[in-house]
Amino acid sequence: MKVNGKDYRTVWFPEDDTRAVAIIDQRKLPFAFDILLLRSVDDACAAIQDMAVRGAGCIGATAAHGMYLAALEACESRDYHAALVRLGEKLKATRPTAVNLQWAVDRVVKATRNGRMPTEKVSIARAEAATIADEDAAWCRRIGEHGLPLIEAISRKKNGAPFNILTHCNAGWLAFTDWGSATAPIYAAHRAGIPVHVWVDETRPRNQGARLTAWELANEGVPHTVIVDNAGGHLMQHGMVDLVITGTDRTTYTGDVANKIGTYLKALAAKDNGIPFYVALPSSTFDWEIRDGVREIPIEERGGEEVRVVEGLAEAEVRAVDIANPGSPVANYAFDVTPARLVTGLITERGICAASEEGIAVLFPRETR
Ligand code: MRU
Repeated sequence: MKVNGKDYRTVWFPEDDTRAVAIIDQRKLPFAFDILLLRSVDDACAAIQDMAVRGAGCIGATAAHGMYLAALEACESRDYHAALVRLGEKLKATRPTAVNLQWAVDRVVKATRNGRMPTEKVSIARAEAATIADEDAAWCRRIGEHGLPLIEAISRKKNGAPFNILTHCNAGWLAFTDWGSATAPIYAAHRAGIPVHVWVDETRPRNQGARLTAWELANEGVPHTVIVDNAGGHLMQHGMVDLVITGTDRTTYTGDVANKIGTYLKALAAKDNGIPFYVALPSSTFDWEIRDGVREIPIEERGGEEVRVVEGLAEAEVRAVDIANPGSPVANYAFDVTPARLVTGLITERGICAASEEGIAVLFPRETR
């Protein structure tokens, strides 16, 4: 997508430095647009853990690029394959919930098995990482194409009145390599001339909605309004939301969805108000091993300072301020699970399906057990 008129992805191999990976530093947005170079697996791990990159697809693509750095580093070891696997495990341990991370690492490790000499394995790792990033962008674009008729159909009933979509967190292009999952149908609808308006949940504690989704939508000229996390239920009760679309960090083969904390509450409110609640995802976000999302998906708990402190712009400087009673304990669960029964449908690169084992199997017969 465009930033100041120039096309960017969230992660890429810089042309002038064959031993580096470039990322957009999302910690600085929307106040500054900075590009960071990663030169080691440790750099890649830190970027994922500190959330310089975040969002399931982007974490996966960054991990894949990190595996290219791992492939270079493994050349220093006697047992190349063992070193590569060890570095991959290090990357996998950075964040537990988004399944794209382990998926991408395993895919690069598997691809390198086709090479004989370490130099050949390095080239394979680089090519595989680039393919993962390209696929991620293409899948998200297709999610947009499949989501567009859904928006068109509901919007037709509104006779040209603004079409209100509520989204939570950032499942936009910053959370992938391009286009985004939840935002792809929104961008497609906006470009098709449908008068979309997006309610953007601010998404405490890190405010990915207020900071990242709002920045993305503003760059694309999509009308939007940032709301506090607790406003969604009220808007739904008053007919001000036509559709909810969120992303997901891990989806079971039965259709349970782990997404940013607070998603479950939005799904409950949508159900109570008869509002369609769709989840958009590329197939790399399915976990084909897990049946029961509430019991089996690992939920990341992050540091308490994210709850205690809010960061923002004050007098042209980014500053952090304490907002909780000093000394009070805090807890920071980063994700929750929305059971499949609350999800109207899944928008994937292969089409839209019911959030159920049977529905998913129709689109992904080979992957489903
Ligand atoms: O903690 P984050 O920012 O990595 O969380 C990920 C998210 O932004 C959301 O949960 C998103 O809706 C799904 S990621 C495509």
